[in-house]
Amino acid sequence: MADNRRPDSMERITNETLAKAFIDEQLKALKEQIGEKKVLLALSGGVDSSVVAALLIKAIGKNLVCVHVNHGLLRKGEPEQVIEVFRNQMDANLIYVDATDRFLDKLAGVADPEQKRKIIGAEFINVFAEEAAKLEGIEFLAQGTIYPDILESDGVKAHHNVGGLPEELHFELVEPVKFLYKDEVRVVGKTLGLPDNMVYRQPFPGPGLGVRCVGAITRDRLEAVRESDAILREEFAKNGLEGKVWQYFTVVPPFTSTGIKDGKRLDDWMVIIRAVNSVDATSATIEEIPYALLNHIVKRIITEVSNVNRVAYDLSPKPTATIEFE
Ligand code: XMP
Repeated sequence: MADNRRPDSMERITNETLAKAFIDEQLKALKEQIGEKKVLLALSGGVDSSVVAALLIKAIGKNLVCVHVNHGLLRKGEPEQVIEVFRNQMDANLIYVDATDRFLDKLAGVADPEQKRKIIGAEFINVFAEEAAKLEGIEFLAQGTIYPDILESDGVKAHHNVGGLPEELHFELVEPVKFLYKDEVRVVGKTLGLPDNMVYRQPFPGPGLGVRCVGAITRDRLEAVRESDAILREEFAKNGLEGKVWQYFTVVPPFTSTGIKDGKRLDDWMVIIRAVNSVDATSATIEEIPYALLNHIVKRIITEVSNVNRVAYDLSPKPTATIEFE
């Protein structure tokens, strides 16, 4: 389709000046397209939807309604950051939905990875559609589609994506960054004043920590994933690895192993650390974390995270191992 091709004349956005020109042009186009009408946006806190939100807030202010659905599988501090940046700092019209219990109830006992993804995707659409139904006068749906999503309709993101947004809502689409590559979205995001840890954040899957709490998700194991991930991120940030390592996270498999606490043998969970470098996620190599830092992270995880007695570091490249565990 002609309107899905990046215009040949479009210059690559590599610096603030070009980003400013893009932003000005988009603000004009968005105002023209939308007028005084209202726009709905599912705001995940990822760079694409955050940049779209920031653009629309500038263009139409409170006529943008952002919905942030917390499916209970977000990283520690994520929903709080979305609220802080968009509601408190940018004064956005933000609806925050904590749907944790709904998602975790639906996922209880489900061990099959694809089934888990389907449930998370379907429930996300249900929650979003319910919120949309409560609102009046919405005519547009904004989406953080970027150019690789259009080009690689078969690619990683499209393949893995938690599912599109509700087609039955029949809104006209607003996709202001659909001709941009990821690096350009980041330059635009930075120019719009979004915080660095939002603009340069590592890839995070739509089903979130759900694919890192391997097998059937339980609340205690999910908490172990979230808390160990927070420690890993904090230590990587402190030690200059944030923004350098492509993707890093922790995983908790669905089995226990024996440990010793206060002289007693006790079965507890194991945390696996994964830190990989990649260009496009089709292959990945392992980051050589300095041993002293690795040791420090292991110590923190086994002392600070409840019900964990063992930590392992996954040295498997992709291929053969995929980046995520399921
Ligand atoms: P794999 O595990 O296939 O992951 O080597 C490649 C990249 O894709 C991300 N990933 C996902 N992203 N929904 C997403 O939006 C998903 O279901 C999903 N599964 C994997 C993964 O984090 C890595 O960056």
